[in-house]
Amino acid sequence: MEHNVVWHPHAITRTDREVANQHCAVVVWLTGLSGSGKSSIAGALEQALHHQGVRTYLLDGDNVRHGLCQDLGFSDDDRRENIRRVGEVAGLMMDAGLVVITAFISPHRSDRENVALRLPEGSFIEVFVDTPLEVCEQRDPKGLYKRARKGEIKQFTGIDLPYEQPLKPDIHLNGELPLGQLVDQLVDELQRRAVIS
Ligand code: PPS
Repeated sequence: MEHNVVWHPHAITRTDREVANQHCAVVVWLTGLSGSGKSSIAGALEQALHHQGVRTYLLDGDNVRHGLCQDLGFSDDDRRENIRRVGEVAGLMMDAGLVVITAFISPHRSDRENVALRLPEGSFIEVFVDTPLEVCEQRDPKGLYKRARKGEIKQFTGIDLPYEQPLKPDIHLNGELPLGQLVDQLVDELQRRAVIS
């Protein structure tokens, strides 16, 4: 399709914003099953970074589905579009100089790869929140697994739709460890990568 639109470069770049913020801009992409701990870890990480003066923004599945993606359900196609939109928004926020933290199941490997490909090399940090399905199901904080097992919710990840876990995540978290320990692991890794000082 012919769009007749041309990219317009701006005078102030992401690098200018990174210099002003005194840290790099990246996307920290948490992926894992429902109930794996993504949202809790993402929230605690954001708090820890914010208290260190890092400029952050957290994009979370449940919240984004109240607005930007409220027209989308949980079919494969809708999830693909959900992740595509979130990837674009995360990219814009990263361009604005932020450390963007995202918490989405993002069950398709190819969707996560496509998000990474749209970002400057090295700025997509994939974090696998590795919590076994049995543990997520035991936690069941929203009672969704119970409903999915009864057949009241269809297309539930891990029950009747697959979750494709990362083959080589940048960071592998054991989702059964205490929250504080997981946040420390993430902060250490961001320091090791010189994203933050
Ligand atoms: S996805 O797969 O990345 O598009 O999903 P996401 O946007 O992260 O939304 C996941 C949250 O939606 C709730 N929910 C479901 N999850 C999975 N499958 C089905 N069918 C479903 N229906 C509703 C659920 O609360 C998820 O939140 P988390 O925080 O992951 O538990």
